[in-house]
Amino acid sequence: MFDLEKFIIDCRNAVLASDSHLAIKELVSEAVSDRSDLMLALGNPNEGGVHKLYVSDDLTILNIVWAPRMTLHPHNHNMWAVIGLYSGREDNIFWKRAKGDTLGLIEAAGAKTLGEGEVAPLGKDVVHSVTNPLSRCTGALHVYGGNFFEEPRSEWNPEDLLEQPYDVERNMELFAEANQFISAA
Ligand SMILES: [Fe+2]
Repeated sequence: MFDLEKFIIDCRNAVLASDSHLAIKELVSEAVSDRSDLMLALGNPNEGGVHKLYVSDDLTILNIVWAPRMTLHPHNHNMWAVIGLYSGREDNIFWKRAKGDTLGLIEAAGAKTLGEGEVAPLGKDVVHSVTNPLSRCTGALHVYGGNFFEEPRSEWNPEDLLEQPYDVERNMELFAEANQFISAA
């Protein structure tokens, strides 16, 4: 069975050895390559939520479950990230800062959909929005090169695409709201 303690130690060692996330990408790829085995350790993703597996100043490991059709607004992380899908699908829109803008405006720059077993490394400056397009939950292993909950960062209002401070609590509430639709269904 997937050994969470060993995975955490391996990630810790990789971060200590280098601040590149390439070694982490290998570890996450291996973890999601056998998704049945991974789900024995993490549980089946049947309710949206952010599950903390490990949090320190230089490393955060999360099991994030997106509720059906849930969307997270454009946001940055200000640290590298590696996302590995083990169940469902995650559609990413990537954004870039608009040329010559001084107000924090972004514009769409690309897209990537991630399916089961697929892994995406994200650079430190990436801005993305995420949608679960499915009518079931999507589960992914997320590893970040810093403290995901303490790092000051930004999100962008989907109405006008302008930058504002990232509101951790508000974003956590989104999961509870999205879960109400599961309960109602
Ligand atoms: Fe993100």
